Amino acid sequence: MNHSSNGKVAIVAGGGGIGGATARRLAQAGTAVVIGDLNPDDAEGIARGIVAAGGRAVGVGCDIGSEASVQAMVAQAVNTFGGLDLIHVNAADLSVIFRDSNAVDVDLAVFDQTIAVNLRGHLLCTRAAIPELLKRGGGAIVYTTSAAAFIGEEERPCYAMAKAGLNALMRHVASRWGQHGIRANCVAPGFVVTENNLKTLPEGFADAAVKRTRSTRLGKPEDIAAMVALLLSAEGEWINGQVISVDGGSTMR
Ligand SMILES: NC(=O)c1ccc[n+]([C@@H]2O[C@H](COP(=O)([O-])OP(=O)(O)OC[C@H]3O[C@@H](n4cnc5c(N)ncnc54)[C@H](O)[C@@H]3O)[C@@H](O)[C@H]2O)c1
Repeated sequence: MNHSSNGKVAIVAGGGGIGGATARRLAQAGTAVVIGDLNPDDAEGIARGIVAAGGRAVGVGCDIGSEASVQAMVAQAVNTFGGLDLIHVNAADLSVIFRDSNAVDVDLAVFDQTIAVNLRGHLLCTRAAIPELLKRGGGAIVYTTSAAAFIGEEERPCYAMAKAGLNALMRHVASRWGQHGIRANCVAPGFVVTENNLKTLPEGFADAAVKRTRSTRLGKPEDIAAMVALLLSAEGEWINGQVISVDGGSTMR
């Protein structure tokens, strides 16, 4: 694989399944990548794999719920690679999702924790990144949202509210900075099998989930990474302000 530099620098905020695949994909196109994750070992592991394959990457511990931590991640990109052009804001706190019951019963601590990371954390990444993107004459942002934001479900209202908020944040950023050369879009994955969610999948879930798609299989992190890479690339230059579903046809809007 050719990793020769394309001169671009990206942050992937939130490694894991989808973020890890995005980081590898961007690096393959010659982009230098900073991976920030709550789990520094995972972030460093993704970066080591990219470097071993001939790419440029560093992994850093980052809690996107903390403004200082987000600023340090952005500073790492600027100090190590000379600036920032692209950011995939992808992290989500999924540790409380099984307690995200319904609007009447849900513990407000679950709401607060979900919003603090999955929505406020994305705002923190946005406001730390934009000044750096502007210094380079523009750039692109992709947020990972979810069909939960628009399909309506009996459960996980806090997760859905955070994702709906992300779609609004993205439309604001595209509107406010589009004419300054910054594009913002959301990718809405369908069910993507990752190392993390494989550990907690109830028996029979995968088969039932395939039936809800219009596809022969569930999603892979690389399916989402391909769309994120397009949205962050020069080929995606005229795509702005969109929520794009990559879900094997599960939803049709
Ligand atoms: N996998 C799916 O089916 C699916 C479907 C729709 C949307 N999504 C969204 O895709 C994104 C990535 O999910 P994934 O499936 O790859 O999950 P994952 O668990 O593999 O990755 C999520 C990563 O976010 C990190 N993280 C959690 N809290 C953080 C914080 N405060 N600061 C920084 N990093 C933090 C975790 O350590 C983890 O590495 C999430 O936003 C999720 O909501 C996933």
